[in-house]
Amino acid sequence: MAAATLSAARMLTLLDLAPDDPPGYRELADLVRLLVLDGRIAAGTRMPSERELTDALPVSRTTVTRAYGVLREAGLLTSRRGSGSVVTLPRGTRPPYMPAAGSSMVGWTIAAGQAAPGVGLAYGRALEQLPEYLSQAGYETLGVPVLRELLAQRYAERGLPTDPDQILVTSGAQSALSLVARTLASRGDRVAVESPTYANAIDSLRRSGLRVLGVPHDGHRLDLDALAGAVRAAPVAWAYLIPDFQNPTGSLMDDVTRQDVASILRRSTTTPIVDETMAELALDVDERAMPVPLAAHHPGALTVGSASKTFWGGLRIGWIRAPHADVPRLVAARETFDIGTAVLEQLAVAELLRVRGELLEGRRERLRARRDELVTALRDRLPDWGVNSPVGGLSLWIRLPARASSRLAVAAEAHDLLLTAGPRFFPDGGGETSLRLPYARTSEDLADAVDRLALAWDDVLDGRATPSAPSRRRPVLTA
Ligand SMILES: Cc1ncc(COP(=O)(O)O)c(C=O)c1O
Repeated sequence: MAAATLSAARMLTLLDLAPDDPPGYRELADLVRLLVLDGRIAAGTRMPSERELTDALPVSRTTVTRAYGVLREAGLLTSRRGSGSVVTLPRGTRPPYMPAAGSSMVGWTIAAGQAAPGVGLAYGRALEQLPEYLSQAGYETLGVPVLRELLAQRYAERGLPTDPDQILVTSGAQSALSLVARTLASRGDRVAVESPTYANAIDSLRRSGLRVLGVPHDGHRLDLDALAGAVRAAPVAWAYLIPDFQNPTGSLMDDVTRQDVASILRRSTTTPIVDETMAELALDVDERAMPVPLAAHHPGALTVGSASKTFWGGLRIGWIRAPHADVPRLVAARETFDIGTAVLEQLAVAELLRVRGELLEGRRERLRARRDELVTALRDRLPDWGVNSPVGGLSLWIRLPARASSRLAVAAEAHDLLLTAGPRFFPDGGGETSLRLPYARTSEDLADAVDRLALAWDDVLDGRATPSAPSRRRPVLTA
């Protein structure tokens, strides 16, 4: 397959350099490396030529040439005469969020923590039920009926009457989203997304051939005028939205806004894809006072959900709630995709849903405590940072006092701390004043991470970002 080519203009957008503060070659190499390792530039992509990049960036040809040299040495670029420089990933890479035994690297790129207590017990109960499934073939293309019924019941409790036949169980919300995008959307369809939004959704929608349009979200609210303008300006077939404790901002869309969004989308025949992965993580909102699901205002909506954040990411259970009319196409596509989801995990999630209320009480209490600890530590150690306390979800969305999020992520590596730079969450560049910090960690881990973060910030302020050793440079999963 021919390599995708990255234009110099796109590179300029991705790097988002301040013209009055151009990077040296090492820093330029580090910023490009960050783009490769956090997935914004895919392996196999052809980079702009040195000449094209020099013309586009506020740096000299020597800086670009030397930066490419550093990237080549680090195994991230392969250059062949006549075919340009192609992005490669070093061999033997291992996800840094699972550092090698004895590694001192701290991963702070995933908004998820350890399993809720009760997950092990739920597996035990699931195992007891397994024999009755063993006498069958085990291909549960729609999902195990008991789980689909419990999920439908939960939607009804939340104000969205649902027939179990509208539920298709998948291997996580990520798989649900890509199944929806690949099955129901056509290549070239436009999809509006909140900007910022969940980074892997941007990639998944793009990989499914959709054109992603960012609609500004200021950390608290989606800009409805901008949404209305975008869907008026050109046909926009889809809108991917995270109304509940949005990843990364933690914001909750209120009822009136949900109604307004639904009516804007209905007028333009835009179908919402609603991601409710974080919906059960209300920290400061009484569950009974939660706004009704967006699909209650838009009957055509596709909703994706997940057990990952509510209970545990390792369950790999998610689902799609679709209008009846869309289910047959999703099921047919699913048969070519992965056929079905593991039965034991589905039974475990069914068990977890039965004790959901009780289990979540403790989980929310712990998350609230960790969130408050992180807010306090940051206000204390980094007083000029804008630190707000989100009403739910799993991370803080920080406002930095300078456009330096990528520089901070690079500097943090020298302190063995892996961060996701703010721009990772923006589909069209920008985000250098933003930073997402997950709080679902132990108190000790948070205190340690904040120590490293404060040291890295000092380095950024002093212009002292030391590049890390090439051997530690690994691809980074953000979730
Ligand atoms: C908004 C959102 N959607 C989807 C996912 C992926 O979820 P899953 O683990 O169920 O695939 C995540 C995980 O970070 C998320 O935050």
